Amino acid sequence: MTDTQPLDDVSYDQLRQLVGLVDYDDAKDPFPVRAMDAVVFVAGNATQTAWFYQAAFGMDLVAYSGPETGNRDHKAFVLKSGSARFVIKGGVDPASPLLDHHRRHGDGVIDLALEVDDVDRCVEHARAQGATIAEEPHDVSDEHGTVRRAAIQAYGETLHSLVDRSRYAGPYLPGYEARTPKPKPEGAPKRLFQAVDHCVGNVELGKMDYWVDWYNRVMGFVNMAEFVGDDIATDYSALMSKVVSNGNHRVKFPLNEPAVSKRKSQIDEYLEFYAGAGCQHIALATNDILATIEGMKAAGVEFLDTPDSYYEDPELRARIGEVRLPIEELQKHRILVDRDEDGYLLQIFTKPIGDRPTVFYELIERHGSLGFGKGNFKALFEAIEREQERRGNL
Ligand SMILES: [Fe+2]
Repeated sequence: MTDTQPLDDVSYDQLRQLVGLVDYDDAKDPFPVRAMDAVVFVAGNATQTAWFYQAAFGMDLVAYSGPETGNRDHKAFVLKSGSARFVIKGGVDPASPLLDHHRRHGDGVIDLALEVDDVDRCVEHARAQGATIAEEPHDVSDEHGTVRRAAIQAYGETLHSLVDRSRYAGPYLPGYEARTPKPKPEGAPKRLFQAVDHCVGNVELGKMDYWVDWYNRVMGFVNMAEFVGDDIATDYSALMSKVVSNGNHRVKFPLNEPAVSKRKSQIDEYLEFYAGAGCQHIALATNDILATIEGMKAAGVEFLDTPDSYYEDPELRARIGEVRLPIEELQKHRILVDRDEDGYLLQIFTKPIGDRPTVFYELIERHGSLGFGKGNFKALFEAIEREQERRGNL
């Protein structure tokens, strides 16, 4: 699969740099995936959450489904930024299953939907590999055409919908009506990010390798070289992480599990408050992380702080070499930087965006690096630990 058609004015070449695509031959791929179709969320108040993503993340409202369009169960807002599509759902009917999901897990990701060319072939393969088929392949149609879709059960209550929209010209799915995005304020950038880079799943202790194997078998995903076991386990924040991706790295799913440490792992905290496995963070690819941070901060988005010691560390300066922004600028905006044999990346993390300490976002600007900031994490955690040690608290 070459996947060379432009994706909503983000060209294939832009995408190659933004999310780190590699060449691959899909002839032997048992489960060819074209792209992320959508990240689908449930929110306690979808009406206001959709407003947040427009106001704070600069996204465009492009489609809507709800009581006004004949959907009496829930409201759903479809938002776009470049090739990234989010769908925010909230229950309207008190009997909506979305409300039960929200009661259990709070605001979070219910579906990491994937665009595929052949839904039936993918489902056949997944079934043969023992996956649970949550929704059998079927057609849904309206005046804009037909979408073929199905869904596979992944970790926790997370689904992977499989969507073939090659015979469909509507704004999202049958049942949705197009909406005209609000004009941006004067001087505001056209958008704050261009693509979804990766979606991370937190799974229970001892389950990471199970899910790596599941993605290998069920979806033909390959293991990315970056993470091996306990590389980012430190005394401060222990976690294990491995990354699986489709053949060209368009879709990347890191999988975390907690690791035993002196303190409660950040993954344990997620599992407790999400009440099980689920999607932890979504990384958004930008070609100008500074502008993205400034745009989001102006709207009130809060980012994780990074200690000055991270930037003043001679080891960091030696490790990162020359990058696009001066180190003073990185320090001012608390941007993290990591380098590997292919290049470097800049990244930053938001605080959790909902009430529970669960889902958050990452912004990532790639310059050749195909990684996820592993060296960065370790350096960050170690910098924090050095600070703790100085205070006599380690
Ligand atoms: Fe990440």
